[in-house]
Amino acid sequence: MPRALITGITGQDGSYLTELLLEQGYDVHGVVRRTSSLGRSRLDHLYNDPAVYGRRLFLHYAELDDPTTLRRVLVKVAPDEIYHLAGQSHVGLSFEIPESTCEMTAMGTLRLLEMIRDLKNPVRLFHASSSEVFGEPSIVPQDENTPFAPINPYGCAKAFASHMLVIYRRTFGLFACNGIMFNHESPRRGENFVTRKICRAAAAIKLGLQKELALGDTTARRDWGDARDYIRGMWLALQHAKPEDFVFATGESHSVQDVVELSFQTVGLDWRQFVKQDQRFMRPAEPHRLIGNAAKAKRLLSWVPKTTFAQLIAEMTETDLELLARKPLDG
Ligand code: GDD
Repeated sequence: MPRALITGITGQDGSYLTELLLEQGYDVHGVVRRTSSLGRSRLDHLYNDPAVYGRRLFLHYAELDDPTTLRRVLVKVAPDEIYHLAGQSHVGLSFEIPESTCEMTAMGTLRLLEMIRDLKNPVRLFHASSSEVFGEPSIVPQDENTPFAPINPYGCAKAFASHMLVIYRRTFGLFACNGIMFNHESPRRGENFVTRKICRAAAAIKLGLQKELALGDTTARRDWGDARDYIRGMWLALQHAKPEDFVFATGESHSVQDVVELSFQTVGLDWRQFVKQDQRFMRPAEPHRLIGNAAKAKRLLSWVPKTTFAQLIAEMTETDLELLARKPLDG
């Protein structure tokens, strides 16, 4: 039975990856923070399944900024594969809390690399890097050779972590891969990320639970894909014969406004009556022209994103409509 360890297991990607790895016959171990609440987490269905939790899925308390706890888990679990997904992942918030963002995302990854370097048994590491490393790129679309030019603390922390991983791969021969992940969304996306915020608001407004939707820059553009496609990419990266970096992206760019129009169209409302701009959600700097070229992942891993942008936004809005109809906001 292969054994995987996931940091950030309670997040969107961690929960889908857990399901995928269990399906593939892995025992899955997750690192959770003491402050995480598992009761209502995205792992709820697995955590409460006695055939899974404690048999094939195991959770361990540890903190990325407390190396002793993490080292202990790593030695105890002795995983074959590690998926490092944890970190402060909100770009806007990283301007408010740059030090803790770097502590978790940059130094947390370096600490993990240091621990892996000391392990007796070889382990394969996947690091969830981000398109935010490109910031203001000189090349469009971006691929594995595009120079990093981050423009926010989060992107800078991810750039540090990604560079360190390459250094450890070269210097110490670690089997370690950066997945340079462009935005990826799903019905499990956190509610403070823009796609989920919009889809949930369109559903709540439709049900009479919310009056309006306040957004920042609706002209901002991103390359948005489906998280379920992207976690398949993570797994494929670690099954490849050689440790390499891969860009995961759709190669299509859409605006926040496109998300608004599609989600309000899904619930049959005119967005003009409900959406307003709010300075509080504007960022000090916005990346430009972030579009990924995933040709390498397609060629070497046979990775192909399956869901279209329109399908994704419609599914997210419809799922929120069902969820809210059953359980109104924070109910
Ligand atoms: N969150 C948010 N809220 N974003 C808004 C809003 C709003 O009200 N209004 C406009 N936006 C714009 C942001 O300014 C940004 O340009 C865009 O919507 C997307 O914002 P997010 O959904 O917060 O995602 P992100 O692109 O900053 O970062 C996400 O993707 C990265 C790349 O994959 C995160 O998941 C990162 O962790 C990830 O690395």
